[in-house]
Amino acid sequence: KQPVLLIQGAMDTETEYLIGQLDEPEEITCGNWKFYTGFLGKHAEPVVISRTYQGMVNAAAATAIAMTQFCLWAVINLGIGGGHDARFHRGDIVVGERVVPMGAMIRKYAPEGAGIDECDFEPLPIEIFDKTLGQTRKVLDFPCDERLGDAAMKVQTDVYVGRGVIGSADEWNNQLDRIALLRERYKTAVEDMESAAPAELCLAYGIPFLGIRIISNSIVTGESFEEAVGVDVQKFAVSFVERLHGMR
Ligand code: 5AD
Repeated sequence: KQPVLLIQGAMDTETEYLIGQLDEPEEITCGNWKFYTGFLGKHAEPVVISRTYQGMVNAAAATAIAMTQFCLWAVINLGIGGGHDARFHRGDIVVGERVVPMGAMIRKYAPEGAGIDECDFEPLPIEIFDKTLGQTRKVLDFPCDERLGDAAMKVQTDVYVGRGVIGSADEWNNQLDRIALLRERYKTAVEDMESAAPAELCLAYGIPFLGIRIISNSIVTGESFEEAVGVDVQKFAVSFVERLHGMR
């Protein structure tokens, strides 16, 4: 099988434009999930576009299916996200530096009646089966591929693009103090609900991974939710894919 680039988005607003850009598109259905194979950009890069649906479990399942159906040389998870770092405004793009599974935590013991201290937690190490090592190991975060990240940072665009940590969990945070705490502990620039799943599986399988998020809302800067920016991160992805020419 020919090595292909997997590009994932959770929603139609994160995938429809890319599917529309495909040359020789073909739709493949596996269980609940649809995959669109074809060629993208001026160098006709072989890609698979995957609509994962929202959240960790959906993203994990779609990734695992893609890993068995296709020969993946890299995985790009993209979409909209909520800003944590005030440097990023709505429409700005965060190129992942790494992904933190910010929902994974061990809460410290507290006796009955002591109340709930949201700050009293430690990151919970996550077990992965490292295919390269042939054994399990525990990790606190998942890397983004340096070469893919560098290629994304070189994309010519009018919007502000910065490198940053992606915090990922089945969570939508609106408490400014909690976001400040997450930033203090993990240096998060943006949060989403999918990228930790493919990032974890890619680490386990030794497949290069990159998360790319466009800010669709930021409680930190007071910018309300605008789903439509999803198209802009897909346009960014087309230019990015063109930059990958020869990297595969
Ligand atoms: N927090 C978490 N997820 C967000 N998303 C957009 N904004 C946020 C936010 N503030 C993304 C998630 C999910 C959908 C709701 O959009 O990844 O797929």
